[in-house]
Amino acid sequence: MIKFNKVSLKYDKDSYAIRDLTLKIDEGEFVFIVGKTGAGKSTLFKLLTRELVPTSGSIKVFKDNIEYISDRLIPYYRRNLGVIFQDFKLLEDRNVFENVAFAQEVIGVNSFKIRKRVIKILNMVGLRNKASKMPYELSGGEKQKVAIARAIINKPRILLADEPTGNLDEISTNEIIGLLDSINQNGTTVVVITHDVHLVGRMNKRVIRLDEGNIIYDDFGLDEQIKKYMMSE
Ligand SMILES: Nc1ncnc2c1ncn2[C@@H]1O[C@H](COP(=O)(O)OP(=O)(O)OP(=O)(O)O)[C@@H](O)[C@H]1O
Ligand SMILES: [Mg+2]
Repeated sequence: MIKFNKVSLKYDKDSYAIRDLTLKIDEGEFVFIVGKTGAGKSTLFKLLTRELVPTSGSIKVFKDNIEYISDRLIPYYRRNLGVIFQDFKLLEDRNVFENVAFAQEVIGVNSFKIRKRVIKILNMVGLRNKASKMPYELSGGEKQKVAIARAIINKPRILLADEPTGNLDEISTNEIIGLLDSINQNGTTVVVITHDVHLVGRMNKRVIRLDEGNIIYDDFGLDEQIKKYMMSE
């Protein structure tokens, strides 16, 4: 489903954000991407969404090499992706309902269908009673749920989440990850960037660790080095 073949990305001429990276993620997988700040995690997502094109190498998503998608067709490609950003990116002047409905409006779904779907999704993420609240009236965890609702309403085949549990306490973190897990159980491929080693340690999922733009670990659960580090805390 996702294949990186020797992908490199340079923002400027002498430093690589992603370096000769080869990676395969199958349909239906749940993958954590970890690594210290500046390791290249968000850059990897920007390559997947075609915000960036590799300096060298190729990226195949579904059946096509995405570097060849024409500008005109990029919006159609992106409809297959649900993205949750590191900083939510909610529309501050629209309420919860409108924030979630927006993703459907831009693809031209009729308002009757939109209403039905938005209510269903808000029920799913536990925000039905917050539908008319504005973003500034929500807690961090609630905002994160709106971001998830918005990312999944178009039924994407791949869900990308950049630090979805960023500033949340353990209970909200578990709730958000539970949601992402159930979305994954329904067949969506889910890729989650996180700094939270405790979270990754609790879940037995595939973990890819990036360092200086390359993969230094790819297996289920935490690597020994991190386990040792956690024990020493
Ligand atoms: N727009 C940009 N222009 C130039 N360099 C950039 C740009 N965005 C990121 N970089 C550099 O690329 C490298 C990888 O950045 P990236 O944002 O992918 O890291 P990250 O793993 O997501 O870090 P964090 O955990 O802090 O979010 C870093 O060295 C960063 O400084
Ligand atoms: Mg980042």
